[in-house]
Amino acid sequence: MIGVFDSGLGGLTVVKEILNKLPQYKIIYFGDTARTPYGTKSAETVNRYSIENTEFLLEKGAKIIVVACHTASSVSIPTLKKTFPEIPFFEVVTPSFKQALRLTKNKKIGLIGTRTTVESGIYNQLFSQADPNIKLYANPTPLLVPLIEEGWLKKPETRRIIKKYLIPLKMKGIDTLILGCTHYPLIKKVIQEKAGKRVKLVDPSEEIALEIKNFLKNNPELAKNLEPDGEPEIFVSDITPNFEKIAQLFLGRKIKLKKINLE
Ligand code: DGL
Repeated sequence: MIGVFDSGLGGLTVVKEILNKLPQYKIIYFGDTARTPYGTKSAETVNRYSIENTEFLLEKGAKIIVVACHTASSVSIPTLKKTFPEIPFFEVVTPSFKQALRLTKNKKIGLIGTRTTVESGIYNQLFSQADPNIKLYANPTPLLVPLIEEGWLKKPETRRIIKKYLIPLKMKGIDTLILGCTHYPLIKKVIQEKAGKRVKLVDPSEEIALEIKNFLKNNPELAKNLEPDGEPEIFVSDITPNFEKIAQLFLGRKIKLKKINLE
């Protein structure tokens, strides 16, 4: 199975894209709803959670692990690869970085995401290695996750906040903007409107699905061993009626959540 984890339900935007591009495989998802958000926590804590989430998915039969959470992708990949050296990991940072590099013409790239993602410095590191002339302008946008989870996708308040967050990036003249959080594909249209037509958006959920597709094409032996399609299984560490609604918002259809206890 393809195992996917996120700090909560936002990672279902990634599941939606994987289902679009790879409908032939079964997905098992774990959303750490009891401990969400990760974006305000230290790298050390996020690393510990990421290891536990991976252990759970491997026990359930996952053969590859997709870290859908941008925060965990920004800080936990070295730890995960060291802890589980045999397992292929996919994360959202590298494909987003590559796509931004392909898209930018003026070498001015913007990034929005949680505080932990922005403060991790991972994108600065990647871009400065790839091309020292690239300027990365990053702005943490912590208010967006709760607004999206409330379903305030197009409200005037949300639009105003997005506009305010994007002003400093626009003033720097960015031509490419990385949507560095699981939740942002849901407000992509408003972000595009506020960023302006000139700015190209990088949506990690699309990029990572393509990366997995390529990997499976080049690794037919592993692909053969993956369980064929079926309804995705969605596990969470806490459940409330509101979580069901949020899951539906992200996945675009109704889905049953199963609660598990990680301890
Ligand atoms: N999943 C997180 C991310 O993509 C957003 C929510 C959180 O802070 O846990 O960074």
